[in-house]
Amino acid sequence: MSRVMLIAGNWKMNGLRAQLDFFAELAGQLDDNSAEVLICPPTSLLAAAAMACENSPINVGGQDCHANISGAHTGDVSAQMLADSGASYVIVGHSERRADHNETSVDVRAKAKAALEAGISPIICVGETLDQRKAGNATTFVGEQLLQSIPESELLNNPARVVIAYEPVWAIGTGMTASRADIAEMHAHIRGLLPPGASTRILYGGSVKPDNAAGILALDDVDGALIGGASLAVSSIKKILDAANTQPK
Ligand code: 13P
Repeated sequence: MSRVMLIAGNWKMNGLRAQLDFFAELAGQLDDNSAEVLICPPTSLLAAAAMACENSPINVGGQDCHANISGAHTGDVSAQMLADSGASYVIVGHSERRADHNETSVDVRAKAKAALEAGISPIICVGETLDQRKAGNATTFVGEQLLQSIPESELLNNPARVVIAYEPVWAIGTGMTASRADIAEMHAHIRGLLPPGASTRILYGGSVKPDNAAGILALDDVDGALIGGASLAVSSIKKILDAANTQPK
C-alpha cells in the first residue's frame, strides 16, 4: 500500500510573529510538491500560521496537547483548542516533553486519544537513549514504548490518522543521525507491531538535514521525516521536500 510521504517541521520553542513570512515563502515554492507538508510552530503562532496557510497546501499542527478537552489546567492547551486554531496534527510524546515534563507513555496514549477525538492526527513519538542502544535494547525498548503510547482501538479504527515518529533521543539536535541500517531495522520492527496492512505512517526524526534526507527517505518503511532545526529555514526544508518528492514510492 502506498503512503503519501509526510514532511513535518517541529519548530519547538522557536518562532516569533516576525517569522510568519516563512509560510507564504514556502507555499510559493511548492508547485511540484507531492509530499504532505506540515509545520508545527509554537502555540503562540498557531492561529496566525493557520491563517497564513489558508490557501496553501501547508498544514499546521501543535507540539503537545492535554488529555482533557477543557478544565482547570493552567498553561495547558487541549486538542480541541488546537483544532479550533487550525491544526490538523499534534505531536505527542516528544522525548523533550517526556524528559522535561515527566510524561509517561500512559500520558502520551491519553493525549493521542484526545487528539483523535478532537479530529486531529496525533504524531506519536518514540525513541531510545544512547545507553539503551549501546546495551542492545533499542528495538525492545521502542517496541514496548510504542505499544504503551498508542491508543490501540483508535489505531484499529483510524490507522491512517495515526502517525508514528521514531526519534532516537541521542540523534535529536546533535548532528548524529542513526545509520540507514539502524533506521531500516527499527522502522521494520515498528511496522511489524502495527495491524497488517495499516496505512499508519512512520516518520524518522533526529538530525534530518538536506544532505542526508534522500538516503533516509529512500528506505522502505520510512514514510517521511520529523525535522527540528532544519525546518526553521525555508531553504533547508524545501531541499528536504525536494528529496521526498524524488522518492519512487
Ligand atoms: P533535529 O532535527 O533538530 O535533530 O530535531 C528532531 C526533532 O526532535 C523533531 O521533533
